[in-house]
Amino acid sequence: MHQAGLQLEQAPPISVPFRFFLTAPIFLVLAAAVLLWRGPEVLESRLSPAALAVTHLFTLGFMSMVMVGAMMQLLPVLAGAPIARPRAVAAITHTGVAFGTLSLAAGFLFGAPWLLNTGTVALGIGFAVFIVAVATALWRSPVKDNTKRMLWLPVLSLVVTVALGVTLGSSLGWGMALANVSIRYLHPGWGLLGWAGLLAIGVAYRVVPMFQITPKYPTPMMKYLAAGVFLVLALWSVALWIDDGTWGPFAIACALALAAAYVGFAATTIVLQQLRRRRQPDVTLSFWKVGMACLIAANVTWALRVFSPTELPEAVDVLIGLLALLGCAGSIINGMLYKIVPFLTWFHLQPLTGAGRLVPNMKEMLSDADQRLQFRVHVAALALLIAAVVWPSVLVYPAALTLGASGALLEVNLLKVLRYVRNPMPSCLGSRSSHPQPTPATGTSMQHK
Ligand code: HEM
Repeated sequence: MHQAGLQLEQAPPISVPFRFFLTAPIFLVLAAAVLLWRGPEVLESRLSPAALAVTHLFTLGFMSMVMVGAMMQLLPVLAGAPIARPRAVAAITHTGVAFGTLSLAAGFLFGAPWLLNTGTVALGIGFAVFIVAVATALWRSPVKDNTKRMLWLPVLSLVVTVALGVTLGSSLGWGMALANVSIRYLHPGWGLLGWAGLLAIGVAYRVVPMFQITPKYPTPMMKYLAAGVFLVLALWSVALWIDDGTWGPFAIACALALAAAYVGFAATTIVLQQLRRRRQPDVTLSFWKVGMACLIAANVTWALRVFSPTELPEAVDVLIGLLALLGCAGSIINGMLYKIVPFLTWFHLQPLTGAGRLVPNMKEMLSDADQRLQFRVHVAALALLIAAVVWPSVLVYPAALTLGASGALLEVNLLKVLRYVRNPMPSCLGSRSSHPQPTPATGTSMQHK
């Protein structure tokens, strides 16, 4: 991956990514509200309607919402691939994903086929517009490097996830027969290991060394890991499809290879973070550490389940889902928001800097104490939810309340930064520093050309 300066002048208007980033925590609060309302039912079976509603409020409303916003921001910056008409694409995608997620979740909760159908159509349109816009931008980009090639992989995985999601939604809503039972496994597999996992890997190669001042990831890993994961996902899909959803030895071997790949990625990230040159505490680093620990725990638990001589309780599947979703993806995304949002705001304010007036640095926009408090609440919610898998009838309620508090605090923190975008003159412009100190690594990797 080339380490040249980021092409920040090609970035879209700040309203494009921010509308996604500010909406996401609201869906975290909604997921917590459904957990509070439906209680133990959500944790008893991963396929109960209430569990599927919470799953999609999280995977679509929180995770994908941030990932889509981040991609619209990152494509021009990392791969020289600006999206044409970014405001229109953002408006349609944001509306489709937000409205579609609400409708899909309500369809699960109330057992209403028309809501499932409406949600499926809205999500299909929202994601289709995003995918076409991103694919066109990547296709047209003159840049030919590993970063650009790597960005194709999560996009292609999203195509598969959405196509299979729409198929599953149509089968539930319109009662259409499923062409193949494997779709039930392939949809979450491509969503988590492809769309979310491959984007996290691609982003980590650039941002972990940049923000956390670590050595680079090993070159063979940067060259082959993501492509290997994508290839094995494809082989696993073919094997499951041929056997109509039955897990034969080849499909199990593929899935174990995928688990090993993600454990290897997580272990490497933890080792690199131990070798970092800047030793000051950093909240994003703490989020990444929790995320990587949960990634290892989710994969090891899954492997233990595969090799267990006896049938394990359904709660183990729920635990794996919790570790992968809230523990890994939720932690990384939350931590990254604390880097991306203040940095974009700082960058947005640069042209407004007048004589004698300097833009506040990132720490002034959002204090460490505010971020650390929300981090602690996030970890408490995760711990309570894991404990609630064992004792749902009592612990699900404090777990839901803590998760809701985490989402609300995240929103409040992001809004604190947004104040500076809304009201940049002149009271918000400090006089201490014109640099985004102390993060990201100023002047080295992020050059304002
Ligand atoms: C167009 C968007 C989507 C639609 C319409 C959709 C629809 C569905 C439906 C209907 C199910 C139930 C499957 C069944 O009855 O077996 C399901 C399950 C699931 N979906 Fe989605 N989905 C979408 C996007 C996503 C995305 C983007 C992710 C992840 C990033 C995701 C993750 C999951 C997970 C984890 C399950 C549970 C599967 C299990 O535990 O076996 N979905 N989805």
